[in-house]
Amino acid sequence: MSYEAKFQVWRGDEGEGELRDYAVEVNEGEVVLDIIHRLQATQAPDLAVRWNCKAGKCGSCSAEINGMPRLMCMTRMSTFEPEETITVTPIRTFPVIRDLVTDVSFNYEKARQIPSFDPGGVEPGEFRMQQVDVERSQEFRKCIECFLCNNVCHVIRDHEENKPGFAGPRFLMRIAELEMHPADAADRREIAQEDHGLGFCNITKCCTEVCPEHIKITDNALIPMKERVVGRRYDPVVWLGSKLGIV
Ligand code: SF4
Ligand code: F3S
Ligand code: FES
Repeated sequence: MSYEAKFQVWRGDEGEGELRDYAVEVNEGEVVLDIIHRLQATQAPDLAVRWNCKAGKCGSCSAEINGMPRLMCMTRMSTFEPEETITVTPIRTFPVIRDLVTDVSFNYEKARQIPSFDPGGVEPGEFRMQQVDVERSQEFRKCIECFLCNNVCHVIRDHEENKPGFAGPRFLMRIAELEMHPADAADRREIAQEDHGLGFCNITKCCTEVCPEHIKITDNALIPMKERVVGRRYDPVVWLGSKLGIV
């Protein structure tokens, strides 16, 4: 069944913009990205939109659909009523370049600031991991870097001033992944807390709710990381050891 859907799409650039009304044909089985492509092909050839895979795997097509952070290629039109007006706006936490395309370089800067895996002198092939440790990091490795979690986190959404000191859930999860790796020799607890703002996170779990890969960011990465930081700070043996410079 085909029908004509009412869309409001944000058009503009870093200076200013507005929601514009469009009526676009919808066919059975289509997703929001199909409609945006049809809009581009038939009515708005200059509409800027970023996408690559149309399979929920590249993380490029992040947007806010009716105010909810979503992947456009994984949002089925059948989840909306045919008479509903559907709004599509760029993700809000990062600056707009044009229309639906935002500048997500904040995330790449944060990624670069995290010290990489430290094998501590152990050569590849010289250590074995238990399956439970492999599975723990495999969950985090499902991340497609859509940055919807960083987009929705209240610490930096509408709080530009917090960005320098907060890596966002995606990269706090990366720190947790490395910290939990049995062969990683670095101690990442202080940098998580002091440099990357783990303490800003008050476990609202909004990041987990929007993750298209269903990664339990809060329960499996952020809370265990907080527990490790607390363990270091308040364990009297660790505290004494750190004063003596032996842990
Ligand atoms: Fe996207 Fe989930 Fe990765 Fe965050 S953790 S960037 S929401 S896939
Ligand atoms: Fe933000 Fe997720 Fe923590 S939304 S506050 S990082 S639980
Ligand atoms: Fe790749 Fe949507 S186009 S995730």
